[in-house]
Amino acid sequence: MQIQENISLKKYNTFGIDVKARYFIELKNEEQIEEIFSSEVNSEKRFILGGGSNVLFTKNYEGLILKNSISGINKLTEDSNEVIIEAGAGVIWQDLVNYCVKNKYWGIENLSLIPGTVGAAPIQNIGAYGQELKNIFLNLNGFDLLEKVKRNYNNEDCQFGYRDSIFKNSLKGFFLITSVQLKLSKRANPILSYQPVMDEIDKRNINNSTIAQISDMICDIRKSKLPDPNEIGNAGSFFKNPEISENTFEHLKKEFKDINSYKTESGVVKISAGWLIEKCGWKGKRKGDVASFEKQALILVNYGNATGKEVLDFAEEVKKTVKEKFGILLIEEINII
Ligand code: FAD
Ligand code: EPU
Repeated sequence: MQIQENISLKKYNTFGIDVKARYFIELKNEEQIEEIFSSEVNSEKRFILGGGSNVLFTKNYEGLILKNSISGINKLTEDSNEVIIEAGAGVIWQDLVNYCVKNKYWGIENLSLIPGTVGAAPIQNIGAYGQELKNIFLNLNGFDLLEKVKRNYNNEDCQFGYRDSIFKNSLKGFFLITSVQLKLSKRANPILSYQPVMDEIDKRNINNSTIAQISDMICDIRKSKLPDPNEIGNAGSFFKNPEISENTFEHLKKEFKDINSYKTESGVVKISAGWLIEKCGWKGKRKGDVASFEKQALILVNYGNATGKEVLDFAEEVKKTVKEKFGILLIEEINII
């Protein structure tokens, strides 16, 4: 097990923030976890890192960064309807998507091209284009780093919500996920409810979409509006879409007639943070190297040498103006370290 010291994290976070980690270990298998427990660098201050696509580092990290690189994709069981797949937490999410699309295992295709690793997917219950991880998630394995024991969590245990789970709440920071199991369908089950997907189907004149076509469409839609982190630093949506009561929504609607909204299963109204931010005049606005992306206001970008603090200050200004204009407090989706 190699322990690196004082290394730059710039290439380990998609925002491209240049901070240093005091200690850094790349975890390649579970056995190394036992080694870490008995190592002198194991301390209270540690952070589990996947692909770094949902984090904002605001200062040097004076502790241990555990980068999860546990690999492997395996088929555990199958029958004529379903298949159970297990993947190591360090597997690149898109590699798992490609594996499932190739084998026609339905359920994951709408989550194509989300950056990051398999192990991070349950943390915020990743979602896109009418699908969420919780709908295909079976269970996960990992280590409680405080009690130094292995644990298994099933779907219900994870307390999934919109961009939320138990791992962002009571288990925050000390549960290391090592593998994830998904239950996928072998029968065609396209999810085409999302308007941009339907528009793309019409445009391409497709009748019965194949899993590969859906995945391909999702990739194209995403590429048309999201910045590629390899070119422009970002961590996807900076804030969550606010969920407000129907009452509050009716009040807002009187003043802002074109407000964008979706009714959720639980009855609350979800409104577009991107719309709110755009209406406050931030879309495409730049301060130093930080900006609200010109094609998607909800994505804050780093055009080169922004510091985490500069991104955070920019985000605070955005929050302030949205609060002043609409009375709504935006809540960060990304993890601020
Ligand atoms: P990291 O950023 O490394 O970590 C995120 C959090 O998970 C941290 O708190 C970390 O401690 C924890 N963590 C990571 N791995 C483990 C582990 N093995 N065990 C325990 N904790 C762990 N998200 C969506 O939901 N939908 C989208 O459509 C979407 N689009 C995006 C588009 C772009 C361009 C970008 C840059 C990001 C997007 N995201 C999206 C956000 C991000 O891709 C997801 O949150 C992803 O799951 C993060 O994976 P990661 O491996 O990079 O996690
Ligand atoms: N909008 C604007 N201006 C903008 C951006 C958006 O008015 O600058 C309005 C538009 O009306 C648009 C609507 O907001 O129709 C929704 O925009 P979009 O389809 O781009 O989705 P989003 O709500 O901004 C969410 C997720 C994304 C996910 C997409 C697709 C959150 C916080 N974000 O974005 O996830 O990919 O839907 O399902 O829920 C992420 O979490 O990092 C992420 C990128």
